[in-house]
Amino acid sequence: MDAYQAAKEEIRKAADITELIGQYVQLKKAGRNFLGLCPFHSEKTPSFTVSPAKQMFHCFGCKVGGDIFRFWMEYHKVSFPQAVRDLAEKYHIILPERKLTPAQKQIMDSKEILVKINESAVEYYHHMLLESAKGRAGREYLDRRSISSDVVGRFKIGFASADWDGLTRFFVKKHVDLDKAVQAGLLIAKKNGGYYDRFRGRIIFPIFDLRNRIVGLGGRVLDDTLPKYLNTPETPIFHKGELLYGLQAAYPTIRENGRVVIVEGYTDVLALHKHGFYEAVATLGTALTVDHIRHLKGYTNEAVVVFDSDTAGKGGAIKSLPLFQNEGLSARVMVLPEGDDPDSFTNTRGLDEFLIRLEKAVPLFDFYLDQKVAQIHQGVEGQVDFLKEILPVVSEINSSSHRALYTRRLAEKTGIAEAVVMTELESITSSHSRGQETDRLRMKISESKAKGLDDLHILNLIIHFPHTVGRLMDNDCRRLLSDPLIKEIFDLICETYKQAGRMVPEEVLENTGIDAVRERFREILLLPPYYSTEGVEQAVEEFIEKAHKVKLSESFRKAKDNLEESYQLLLLKRERLGLNRNRNGIFQEEV
Ligand code: UTP
Ligand code: MN
Repeated sequence: MDAYQAAKEEIRKAADITELIGQYVQLKKAGRNFLGLCPFHSEKTPSFTVSPAKQMFHCFGCKVGGDIFRFWMEYHKVSFPQAVRDLAEKYHIILPERKLTPAQKQIMDSKEILVKINESAVEYYHHMLLESAKGRAGREYLDRRSISSDVVGRFKIGFASADWDGLTRFFVKKHVDLDKAVQAGLLIAKKNGGYYDRFRGRIIFPIFDLRNRIVGLGGRVLDDTLPKYLNTPETPIFHKGELLYGLQAAYPTIRENGRVVIVEGYTDVLALHKHGFYEAVATLGTALTVDHIRHLKGYTNEAVVVFDSDTAGKGGAIKSLPLFQNEGLSARVMVLPEGDDPDSFTNTRGLDEFLIRLEKAVPLFDFYLDQKVAQIHQGVEGQVDFLKEILPVVSEINSSSHRALYTRRLAEKTGIAEAVVMTELESITSSHSRGQETDRLRMKISESKAKGLDDLHILNLIIHFPHTVGRLMDNDCRRLLSDPLIKEIFDLICETYKQAGRMVPEEVLENTGIDAVRERFREILLLPPYYSTEGVEQAVEEFIEKAHKVKLSESFRKAKDNLEESYQLLLLKRERLGLNRNRNGIFQEEV
């Protein structure tokens, strides 16, 4: 085993799969396994299974499954090497350099280069802000907004002058590949050749990923020019809908205090930081997405969303309810006085007032209801409009008990009969719940796929009592199997056993290349044993006996077939010899 492999094993040992997945999925104990709602497809009844004993997960609905690395890859949509790196970091395991194939190296390098170029640009912008004459406008602007030099340093804030080619020239001097800088979104290629800077006349806010690497930039104008903010466009390393501004600086505190505060703007995060409040993050000008929430869920299960009074008024907040609810993050809302955002509020009234309001944050749904109920137009039409707006949102909530709870609250607050709300909701839910139907159907089908009961029983026996494999194999119990996938698994197991003299089912699974086989294998691995320790011997004997019987009847059938064949041959010969059968089928010479 090379050092990289060894480190991987160490991560596996350090990370408990239930604990890891439990940070992202609410799990309930169910026998020897844990069950939860699958994070990889939409479902209302849990079929996502985590086995602590096998250190494995599997969704019986959508069939995604595997070990901790697979979970990380699927959940965070990263490559395998990235998953290993992330988990190594998470569990404080030192990862040696891995030997990469040239193709892998190229992909890694190309992303790495974009990060390097971003970092080099920020070095330039940060220097411009702090040191250059041209940076004066930037320094004055930040002063006006009372962004402290401490915050400027910690968040590496910079300044892009109004020049068209300040960064371009810096890159030329530094021998940076300008086409790569275009790819990083920093330069723009002119039609007739040459390059110019994307960010001009702006304060630069570097955007970090969780590993503290600069993956993109946000730039704000110094006056009222539009657009007020400009971001790096989507690049291989910059995905706006997944990143949260300030998370790299905030997550230790978020984890410690068990709460995240989501604000709207960069300057809000910075102002809060300046006041010593380290729990705030901001989206990059987009709505919250499920990716954002999944990132946060690793650190906390409580979020407070801070809205400017006008954003709150627009009712956009409620759209995020199903996101929070379905990911198991409780969400509360804090609203600031009209015209204020956390930046202006803390700078004029101080952090303490902010904290007082924060404590009074109300659950997202209640907040929305209270706001809406005040606005409902009188009469039936008003109520219908209201239900039309809110019910589609409620219907996206996966948990039926939560849907029921919200329905009741809706009825209470609006005075609409609960039964009416409920029927209305049901009609919406049933029209888009086909996905779940398919899931159930799929599960049934996959269950019935194992035609012969023996298939499952034999495999179950081998998996839970690996010492039985030799005898089952030697006595040709394979002939009892009918499902081709199960036969495949059986063969893999036998092969491993023959080669190594021992067999660990989980290891065999790991070395299985075909997806369909892996899925089936995992499912069977997660089933509880059908046999008790005392029952094992009897089961083995029964299977062996059954296999012998099948073998006998098979050879009998074969013998019969042979006989039949010889008979046919004889018939042919006879015919050639001019013999014919009489009425009783007995050959006789032609008369
Ligand atoms: P705001 O307009 O509320 O800005 O946009 P702000 O954060 O309070 O900024 P200041 O205080 O005027 O400097 C909130 C967020 O929306 C995104 C940015 O991420 C901003 O932080 N935004 C806003 C854009 O992406 N583009 C824009 O043109 C405006
Ligand atoms: Mn602001």
